[in-house]
Amino acid sequence: MEKNVLVVDDDEVIIKSCDAVLSAEGFKVTGVTDARAAMDLIEERLFDLVITDLIMPTIDGFELIRWINENHPYTRVIAMTGYSSKSVLRDAIALDIMDFLPKPFFPHTLTEAVKKAVDTPPKVPVPSRDVETYDKEKLKSILQKYKGRAGSLIMVLQEVQELIGYLPASVQKVIAKGMKIPVSEIHAVVSFYSYFTMKPMGKYNVRVCQGTACYVKRADEILEKLKDTMGISEGEITPDSLFSLETVRCIGACGLAPVVLVGNDTFGSVDPTKANEILNDYH
Ligand code: FES
Repeated sequence: MEKNVLVVDDDEVIIKSCDAVLSAEGFKVTGVTDARAAMDLIEERLFDLVITDLIMPTIDGFELIRWINENHPYTRVIAMTGYSSKSVLRDAIALDIMDFLPKPFFPHTLTEAVKKAVDTPPKVPVPSRDVETYDKEKLKSILQKYKGRAGSLIMVLQEVQELIGYLPASVQKVIAKGMKIPVSEIHAVVSFYSYFTMKPMGKYNVRVCQGTACYVKRADEILEKLKDTMGISEGEITPDSLFSLETVRCIGACGLAPVVLVGNDTFGSVDPTKANEILNDYH
């Protein structure tokens, strides 16, 4: 299948050169001259690889890579720069990139680095329900259903999160347009409620309450048990995308402490030594 590569460089000549070399090898190349435009494109489309210059005006490549790691950790990144000092190299490698290309480079150096990168599995599995594949008609029908109904934003966000699995910035923009409200208002609601998330989740998102009532009943041991069972840390997704794991503050069910949520199911009085058994019925 054709691989999508995004080239980010404030020098258009570099973008055209990369395009010429990589298109000849069967890659689909998109080029942009600044990191902000790159972020917007990455929110809209799934790229197999981003090749970014490091030194750029306004938002530099380091900031772009940090943003990718934070928001789209399954996106592979190669960095390139004409200023390949030891400190630049060290700082770039610290960002867990796949390769580093000092400019100028030979065409075959680029091709080899790109082929190697796209053949390497991403650090984090690509979410099965990503911004590329969700049912856009269904999203439209949700917006249509609540059209003109005051105070319906929360319900819209709930349904859209159920549809896609999370609420990335690109989807918030679509909702803002559809509901004719500022995207900043949507962002504020999504950020305020812990139920909503802007990051991709597993099919079942496991939330371990770490509020005071749960904590004194060994919620930290439950968290450790679940981490061991799933083989992931907080904020990560299992390789098969079945589970993601996060902690939450009090969910208002202190009488049931300690509490674990799996998707929409609530488990109370969880025995820390048997917390792993909660996951047995989820496939
Ligand atoms: S502290 Fe866990 S539900 Fe309240």
